[in-house]
Amino acid sequence: MDQLYENIIRPILFTQNPEFAHDLGLNVWKVVGAVSPLRKLMETFTLVKTEKPVRVMGLEFPNRVGLAAGFDKDATAWRAAAAFGFGHAEIGTVSMLKQSGNPRPRMFRYPKAEAIVNSCGFPNDGAEEIAARLGAIFSKNPNITKKCPLGINIGKSKITPLEEAAQDYLFSFNALADYADFFVINVSSPNTPELRKLQGADFLPSLLGEISKANEDRSKKLGVKRIPIVLKIAPDLSFGEIDSILSILFELGLDGICATNTTITRPEQYPDMEKGGGMSGAPLFKKSLGIIKYISQATNGKLPIIGVGGIVKPEDAGEMMNAGASLVQLYTGMIYRGPFFARSVASALEWRDKEWL
Ligand SMILES: Cc1cc2nc3c(=O)[nH]c(=O)nc-3n(C[C@H](O)[C@H](O)[C@H](O)COP(=O)(O)O)c2cc1C
Repeated sequence: MDQLYENIIRPILFTQNPEFAHDLGLNVWKVVGAVSPLRKLMETFTLVKTEKPVRVMGLEFPNRVGLAAGFDKDATAWRAAAAFGFGHAEIGTVSMLKQSGNPRPRMFRYPKAEAIVNSCGFPNDGAEEIAARLGAIFSKNPNITKKCPLGINIGKSKITPLEEAAQDYLFSFNALADYADFFVINVSSPNTPELRKLQGADFLPSLLGEISKANEDRSKKLGVKRIPIVLKIAPDLSFGEIDSILSILFELGLDGICATNTTITRPEQYPDMEKGGGMSGAPLFKKSLGIIKYISQATNGKLPIIGVGGIVKPEDAGEMMNAGASLVQLYTGMIYRGPFFARSVASALEWRDKEWL
């Protein structure tokens, strides 16, 4: 199937502008997600399940490969994730306010480099509308995420000043908490002005502290477990900056780290790449891998790492696992390798797990 995609479907898709092609793919996912007999049939053939479920952050995953944030920003398609081989899906980034994102064009493909540059800027329907959408799905099928856990990625609305960012995140956290198997706090997109400043010591402790407290309060009030909370970081941080982030995470008892988001750097050999926005795909891999290795060593493997950034071959995912990741995610790899790329990666990792045991 990957060959069919690369030789026939991809050349046709790549004649279209990237955002149109993305919407086309998303529509296919929406149909698969909504038509439950089709979804279940595809899951039987596609979803690779490890011998024992993978346990990370107290959750059980059928395999180690997840859909990265940004593909299903509005939570309209994620139900199809397992049918395409993913062992978890992350929706969003969702912000408190509905917003249209940056002007188009805002997605650019670089096939030679197997990279994408995007400057989307969190276009999304806003936390309330997305919560209502999820509520409708969960009311019909409360166990919908049992087979394939759902991560919800939240970020700051563009017009919210940094000083009020915590309120923005808290609003989305509270609106969406009933549907999240885990939350990912996004402070690392390069496309919302100043968002990355939230990674610094001036903002991060209070932002994460307030979200953790809301989580704790909710768990006491409802008598339910705390929802695991993960921080998603940029690949452009220095190791010193990562050290201070790690100490904040340990102090607050956060559950994991997602490394990494897109980079603002560009490879030297592609000087014509769009300068604004974040780059994902193959040229990001080494950077993300280096950061995962660093975090794993600095924490003695004690902090669960979701490794993401430039997985375009199954071996890349293996390298991320060797570097210390517990789960991996991909997005750009699916654009270049096709809709069933997650399945190929999950089966390669399953072999790796068997050999290691
Ligand atoms: C078009 C596009 C949109 C993205 N939107 C988001 C987003 O809204 N929130 C987020 O946390 N990451 C977003 N990302 C980053 C991905 O989740 C991922 O961290 C990054 O692309 C590296 O992984 P990859 O090389 O497998 O794509 C986006 C990536 C792309 C390509």
